[in-house]
Amino acid sequence: MRPARPIRSLRFTTVALATAALTLPLLSGVATAEPSVERHSNAKHDRLRVAAPDGFFVGTAVAGGGHHLEQDYPDPFTHDKKYRKILGQQFNSVSPENQMKWEAIHPERDRYDFAAADAIVDFAERHRQVVRGHTLLWHSQNPAWLEQGDFSKDELRAILRDHITTVVGRYAGRIQQWDVANEIFDGEGKLRTQENIWIRELGPDIVTDAFRWAHEADPEAQLFFNDYGVESVNAKSDAYLALVKDLLAQGVPVHGFSAQAHLSTRYGFPGDLEQNLRRFGALGLETAVTELDVRMDLPESGVPTRAQLTQQADYYQRALSACLAVDGCNSFTIWGFTDKYSWVPVFFEGEGSATVMTEDFGRKPAFHALLSTLKRA
Ligand code: XIL
Repeated sequence: MRPARPIRSLRFTTVALATAALTLPLLSGVATAEPSVERHSNAKHDRLRVAAPDGFFVGTAVAGGGHHLEQDYPDPFTHDKKYRKILGQQFNSVSPENQMKWEAIHPERDRYDFAAADAIVDFAERHRQVVRGHTLLWHSQNPAWLEQGDFSKDELRAILRDHITTVVGRYAGRIQQWDVANEIFDGEGKLRTQENIWIRELGPDIVTDAFRWAHEADPEAQLFFNDYGVESVNAKSDAYLALVKDLLAQGVPVHGFSAQAHLSTRYGFPGDLEQNLRRFGALGLETAVTELDVRMDLPESGVPTRAQLTQQADYYQRALSACLAVDGCNSFTIWGFTDKYSWVPVFFEGEGSATVMTEDFGRKPAFHALLSTLKRA
């Protein structure tokens, strides 16, 4: 265990997911002594990206920025050689965890900082990976100059337009999918009209403009709505369905809907994930799982029990199977692959072990569950 770190206030409200029956099939290969993990292997047949069916992208967040800046290690993506090696070997899609968010890429009104984002996009190209851009219109991780600035409506609109045109334009042709709008609805399926500066100041139509501007800047990129708590059929995902139908009818360039899937073993697996993705697919949209992790309450020792790791592996496997089962769900991303850099212990007090590898890159049952599910697909 690492030393205790400050716990952030929970911006991220945990939504009690509709309780689906918990099934815990015994996974083959799990029955080793605690902590049930294996060392890393370099064999080709042990790689997620190699096991993935043609045209299916298996991705990870690329650690850097955000909570990492407050930790006692250097930037993971630039400094951790082993991390980079596994990143290139295992995945054929990458998502900047923080490096394309407003606070990172647009730190001052008249200054963009593309260094970290450029490095990821270059790495992706060298490793024949696609990139998911994240994100353009959000209520969180915006710079103070924006949130606390005193701008007229016209100025704000121009600021957003310039941002989208500049950022999307810079990477045009090099980003497969953009999370254009992130987390615009609350848990009840109401637009975040207070927290989200753009919707608050400019009204809901700004979301439409954001998609149009992004499409102009990169006509090839698939443009997504992305959110948490939308794995199931519920008020929030219903709100997205209604909004997307409306926008498509108006000819707005919306191409995808994605479920972040920050799951917890405290709740049942969202057993209707497949059904939910399907109804968006039926509108002609791409769907994706974009930020999967499965956190758990850690025992006193800090080491998860075998039963916990088995339950976690089951959630990973079911999330992947749901995506694989849906036409148009071609992108499946986990929110980091090693506990060494996971955001979970920083944001969720007492919880952790949410990724598929331990802090020293040992493979957990969840890794094997993904690998074998991809091989069977
Ligand atoms: C998280 C990052 O993992 C942290 O490093 C950062 O401090 C906060 O944001 N939904 C999202 C992601 O869309 O951008 C968030 O990422 C997790 C929740």
